[in-house]
Amino acid sequence: MNYKDIFYHHKPVLLKESVENLIVDKNGIYIDATFGGGGHSYEILKKLNKNGTLIAVDQDKESIKRNLIKDKRFHLFHNNFVYIRDILNKKNIEKVSGILVDLGISSLQMDNPKRGFSNQLNCPLDMRMNQESSYSAKNVINECSKKQLFHIFREYGEFKNSKKIVEKILKRRFQEKFFNTFDLNNVFFIRGSFRKKKRFFSRLFQSIRIEVNDEINILKDFLLESSKIILPGGRIAIISYHSIEDRITKSFFKKGIIINKINFKTPPFKMIHKKVIKPRFKEIIKNPRSRSARLRIAEKS
Ligand SMILES: C[S@@+](CC[C@H](N)C(=O)[O-])C[C@H]1O[C@@H](n2cnc3c(N)ncnc32)[C@H](O)[C@@H]1O
Repeated sequence: MNYKDIFYHHKPVLLKESVENLIVDKNGIYIDATFGGGGHSYEILKKLNKNGTLIAVDQDKESIKRNLIKDKRFHLFHNNFVYIRDILNKKNIEKVSGILVDLGISSLQMDNPKRGFSNQLNCPLDMRMNQESSYSAKNVINECSKKQLFHIFREYGEFKNSKKIVEKILKRRFQEKFFNTFDLNNVFFIRGSFRKKKRFFSRLFQSIRIEVNDEINILKDFLLESSKIILPGGRIAIISYHSIEDRITKSFFKKGIIINKINFKTPPFKMIHKKVIKPRFKEIIKNPRSRSARLRIAEKS
């Protein structure tokens, strides 16, 4: 296995900060819930002893196919991490020492013109992380009701002008269906700086991606599940890329609250750093995609 090959397509974000703080027992069982290009998995395996175990999961077939890690301690599953209990059952595992979650999408997905994640490439409106799912960005844009679209842009894109965005989409939809990412881009004329335009389209695409992959509900369910499967003293590290995910993580770690799901009297985790960890300037220069990353680590009480 070559270190350079693993890091070639996707540069793992906050690698040292997340993995060093995660490992509490070098012989323990760990989960990398978002395998992607395998960078974090590779680093975790480097830190574990020969009796350690790493269970890795990704819902994207491409990511599984590209795996370069061959190691007896390593077990890779094609699944959604929300089904982690079923995955652990297959291996007769009840509890683990730590879980790492690096949310969002990998560069492998972002840069693939067939996947529809990038607003800078003209590709089919897709955005499914799991290619077997029957719900894509095309369904969202062409079929969601006015009310659903409003909810998507307001809640997942945090747009104040969601109503206007929805009206523009509905106007074009009335005349012609949307097929490609540029069909969507062309509906909007954003005045102002390049930065302002970039921010608008990133948030627009982010909100559709969150809807397509049900990312918010899945994160909430997974956090709750993690509190049942991590051993006392074990850790969970979450890397998020937008404020919605980071707020959910912070609220759960700090107060034991997941809105619309649960409110623990005593929070099951305690944060091991008071402040959120952000990439250093050096990392952002090397990998500009890391700039929005936020890492929170907590320990099971
Ligand atoms: C940011 S990338 C992870 C990169 C990885 N840490 C690395 O170093 O290469 C996120 C990955 O998580 C996967 N993913 C996101 N949500 C998921 C979920 N609910 N279940 C399983 N995989 C998921 C995506 O398909 C993607 O491959």
